[in-house]
Amino acid sequence: SGSSPLQGKSVVITAGPTREKIDGVRFISNYSSGKMGFAIARAAEKRGALVTLITGPVHLPAPPGVERLDVESALEMNAAAEVFFGKCDLFIGAAAVSDYRPATPIEGKIKKGAENIELTLVKNPDILAGFGRQKSSAQLAVGFALETRTGLDNARKKLAEKNLDLIAFNYFDRKNSGFDVDTNILTLIGCDGMTTELPLLTKDAAAEKLLDAIEQLCLERALN
Ligand code: C5P
Repeated sequence: SGSSPLQGKSVVITAGPTREKIDGVRFISNYSSGKMGFAIARAAEKRGALVTLITGPVHLPAPPGVERLDVESALEMNAAAEVFFGKCDLFIGAAAVSDYRPATPIEGKIKKGAENIELTLVKNPDILAGFGRQKSSAQLAVGFALETRTGLDNARKKLAEKNLDLIAFNYFDRKNSGFDVDTNILTLIGCDGMTTELPLLTKDAAAEKLLDAIEQLCLERALN
């Protein structure tokens, strides 16, 4: 249409799970499907944005017109994302990044033997918070918070701690919301405290609503 504030903007989106190597054949991961992040990438591209989609291992085709970067671990996702920190207009963290990784992945395959073995995990970098720390006033940071029913306050805390402009809170313990389904129930919270509860929507429709809210932010801040 040419009228979207996202027209020509550089948008970076992280999506999917990450895999953290235990040894050459095993990993720690989660059930993220990547559907929400891919839906946002598709919707942003349609609004004329220049979209880079940094994704962990998922079973989804790249949306046409979107630059796709495939990564495996949180460290790889972080390295791929950091390249864009200084130059993107909008960073959306939709990936379910593993919070921890095995401290020292074993080469080859861990042998079966002892009744109990220990795995030491170390914390991964918070990619979105890293962007939030160094973004300029012309850049927007948007995140997700997957929480239980009582997690709205947690989502607000994350918005502040990660220096985000907007956070999309979704329920992980509700049917039709969260991982690996085609629908989502999002509550959008702006850094001004404005809270918008969306109804149960397809992830495509939820992505459009999220981008509507982001466009609104762009207009309010005259980022167009
Ligand atoms: O703190 P929590 O993991 O709940 O925050 C979720 C948000 O932060 C999501 O937007 C997610 O993509 C992002 N995140 C990240 N790097 C991490 C952990 C979370 O970018 N290591």
